[in-house]
Amino acid sequence: MNEPSPAAQHRLTEDPNIGRVLLTEQQLAERIQELGAQITEEYQDRRPLMVCVLRGAYAFTTDLAFAIDLPVEIDFIAVSSYGSSTRTSGVVRLVKDLDVDLTGRDVILVEDIVDTGLTLRYLRRSLEVRGPASLEVCTLLAREAADLEGLGVKYVGFTIPGDFVVGYGLDVGEKYRNLRYLAVYEPDEVSTP
Ligand code: IMP
Repeated sequence: MNEPSPAAQHRLTEDPNIGRVLLTEQQLAERIQELGAQITEEYQDRRPLMVCVLRGAYAFTTDLAFAIDLPVEIDFIAVSSYGSSTRTSGVVRLVKDLDVDLTGRDVILVEDIVDTGLTLRYLRRSLEVRGPASLEVCTLLAREAADLEGLGVKYVGFTIPGDFVVGYGLDVGEKYRNLRYLAVYEPDEVSTP
């Protein structure tokens, strides 16, 4: 079999580490419309403040905001727990704080994926003490094993199994965020001596 040329290998769509498609553009778009409609209903007389958790939730936050038929505000918070690996370091670090005061605000925290729940627990603690009128969580993805009730997650796009996924904002080592769909990440085989 012919090897792909280096130019082709550089294409995101030809990347050998991108495996099975987990969610297509259309599946993402349809579910996000539903979530947007639900939030529009439930926040009818309010002006929610969407808090986007950088960097993974940027694409989801953008499309979700377009799907909400209310005057929303958007702010950004950045945390880090993964470094460049596919395993959580177990320590969450605040990288960028919000600009907006949360006092009396109806906050919707927008996450890309709830895995162990460590990041979410940290963010909840950090935001709750700032006196919001309400605080709900909307995550695009949640692991099947995640305790969503215990973590108080109200809106969930999709529950997914344990595979590490990339695309639609989610990365590995800052790569693959601009893939338009969600795919399973397949790392190179590490040969043990
Ligand atoms: P948790 O703190 O273990 O719940 O991990 C949540 C964070 O880890 C997410 O906000 C992501 O940044 C990252 N993460 C967890 N699983 C994945 C994945 O499959 N792909 C990309 N990022 C992930």
